[in-house]
Amino acid sequence: MRALTTLPLFRKSMLGLAMAGALGAAGQTQAGEVEVLHWWTSGGEAKAVGTLRDLLEAEGHEWKDFAVAGGAGDSAMTVLKSRAMSGNPPAAAQIKGPEIQEWGELGLLGNLDSVAEEGNWEELLPGVVSDMMRHDGHYVAVPVNVHRVNWLWANPEVLEDAGVEMPTTWDELFAAGEALREAGYVPLAHGGQPWQDATTFESVVLSLGGSDFYRQAFVELDEQALQSDTMIEALTTFKRLRELMDEGMPGRDWNLATSMVIEGEAAMQIMGDWAKGEFTTADMQAGEDYLCAAVPGTDEAFTFNTDSFAMFQLDDDEAREAQKTLARLILEPEFQQTFNQIKGSIPARPDLDMSEFDRCAKRSMQDFQAARDADTLVPSMAHRMAMRSDVQGAFFDIITNYFNSSDMTAEAAAQRLVKAAELAM
Ligand code: GAL
Repeated sequence: MRALTTLPLFRKSMLGLAMAGALGAAGQTQAGEVEVLHWWTSGGEAKAVGTLRDLLEAEGHEWKDFAVAGGAGDSAMTVLKSRAMSGNPPAAAQIKGPEIQEWGELGLLGNLDSVAEEGNWEELLPGVVSDMMRHDGHYVAVPVNVHRVNWLWANPEVLEDAGVEMPTTWDELFAAGEALREAGYVPLAHGGQPWQDATTFESVVLSLGGSDFYRQAFVELDEQALQSDTMIEALTTFKRLRELMDEGMPGRDWNLATSMVIEGEAAMQIMGDWAKGEFTTADMQAGEDYLCAAVPGTDEAFTFNTDSFAMFQLDDDEAREAQKTLARLILEPEFQQTFNQIKGSIPARPDLDMSEFDRCAKRSMQDFQAARDADTLVPSMAHRMAMRSDVQGAFFDIITNYFNSSDMTAEAAAQRLVKAAELAM
């Protein structure tokens, strides 16, 4: 949450508001209504979140949609912060990873322990997921899914037309890129936005450094790792990927980049499996009309990104009831199955039948389990899972500036990452 870079100031104002008894957000919320802040506005995302609205409404409650466009939620988090500052947060908001703790520390989140107990969340959820949903030992958020970030998507017709196979190494990817260019295609669809740059970069780091190195760099913020030869190599490879992208990339939304692959204008995209939501919405079949593979060199690892809804404290009993109903529905099999098939993710609870899911999702579930066993499951830096929001914001700036700069060296970028990490200490 880049908007919380000024966290101490923000915290002070929030505490002031709380003391003034201004936490009456719910006072303005009508009985049985849940206002839900999210950033799911692309075709696949909107369809997926619609399933939750339908289920809530079927229980007799009202869904008040608070959608803030912008991939990966930077804009949504800015809007959430200002709503919270004015003492009027929504009942539920898409908040993820360590940011759940940041909001929990502000004392604004409600307690979901009773719903969790009734629904047996403790048993159902992998520890890596449930740990993030608790603040101070209490459930304050509910997980929706598990997205895998380190995916490479491709249009098989385009690959075939250029006479190339799905690449499994960076050398193969760059060689395929040349053939694709000659055949008149954009090799790699990309949107030049900081979070998309970071999404690509973290996969390169995982590929070249492996999961232990990835954790040292992005979770432990280890200075040696951040300025190591491996990091320099990752920065250099990341920058080289520009060769495969097109001039139209600055500012492009991720789903428009996915559309380029769907339309056969571009061959591939590095993106988390929410891209699958776009392929599915375009009626394309996994393994036939589009291909999924792990980003080169990351087959054994899994960069996870869990979407979740944190619930804000409410005064009104009926609104609280509606909020709890929403939390309960989110982990029930019906929602987990339908939502995740549309969204491209896998269920947050691993006990569900996956037979109706497509082959990329089945593979994701298998790889998730395998990565847990092999300890190669890593949290996504680009998707708010790995580090505090202020450090993440600084990393995003450095990665994007480096990617777009004509004179910043990889060494200089690495030094800046070290400086940003020092902020966190
Ligand atoms: C991610 C989020 C996904 C997807 C994506 C693009 O951070 O976890 O659910 O929505 O952003 O907006």
